[in-house]
Amino acid sequence: MSDLKGKIVAITGGGTGIGEGIARKLASLGCRVAVGGRRIEKLESVAQSIKSETPVYCHTLDVADPDSVKDFFAAVKSHFGDPDILVNSAGINIQKRTMAEMSPEDWDRVMQINASGAYRCIYEVLPAMRERRDGLVVNISSVAGKRAITLGGVVYCASKFAMTALGTAISNEVRDESVRITNVYPGEVNTPILENRPNPVSQEHKDSILQPEDIAEVVATICALPPRANVPEVVVKPTKQEWV
Ligand SMILES: NC(=O)c1ccc[n+]([C@@H]2O[C@H](COP(=O)([O-])OP(=O)(O)OC[C@H]3O[C@@H](n4cnc5c(N)ncnc54)[C@H](OP(=O)(O)O)[C@@H]3O)[C@@H](O)[C@H]2O)c1
Repeated sequence: MSDLKGKIVAITGGGTGIGEGIARKLASLGCRVAVGGRRIEKLESVAQSIKSETPVYCHTLDVADPDSVKDFFAAVKSHFGDPDILVNSAGINIQKRTMAEMSPEDWDRVMQINASGAYRCIYEVLPAMRERRDGLVVNISSVAGKRAITLGGVVYCASKFAMTALGTAISNEVRDESVRITNVYPGEVNTPILENRPNPVSQEHKDSILQPEDIAEVVATICALPPRANVPEVVVKPTKQEWV
């Protein structure tokens, strides 16, 4: 396995949930970690609670806003340098998820964050990775990016299928330049996104599903593989969750 010490990692959505879990894990392995999200207080509280050799760097980021994306990556570059690893974990879902309930504005908002947002972030980091002939992008998609499940809803599934195709298509384009892309498809994970479910989620259920650190372990393993090895896709689900 490769030593991750000193690797520069940018994590979108790094202030909570899966992104936070990945930030904690990679910082503990010696990576220089930058986290972005819209709420600076969430980013700062995560950064302060991680006791790593290199303090975690935070900067606001709205992946739906092209200028904000440019500002974030410029700030990461000037603070640490070009990212070796990008983790796209920023994402949302809406409460009203059926075609009957959701509005065209809901469609635009979710697509802008989950699909176009991931594209824009990859767009910012890819040229330097191609030039260096080294780099890894990890897309936190979802099982809803593999199967159009009712629980995910219309636009969430569509946005995650878009993220899936984005990762696969770019990966095929850059494979001869030694740049790797991995799409991770988590099942249910106990994170704040569950608060936006149409039906409340019980504490018992939250305790029984995946925890952010489970996804972080998988991502850390992928990051530590030698550059010759690429994991295109990985599904990680709670043992009790159905997979068909
Ligand atoms: N939890 C699950 O069951 C599950 C399963 C499969 C996949 N996922 C995916 O995992 C990823 C992380 O979600 P999570 O479960 O960890 O939930 P979460 O805690 O709500 O994390 C989502 C993060 O994305 C950030 N974010 C949202 N909109 C953003 C924007 N426009 N620009 C920048 N950051 C934005 C949020 O921070 P701000 O609000 O401060 O911007 C938040 O930190 C998402 O893409 C989600 O779809 C989750």
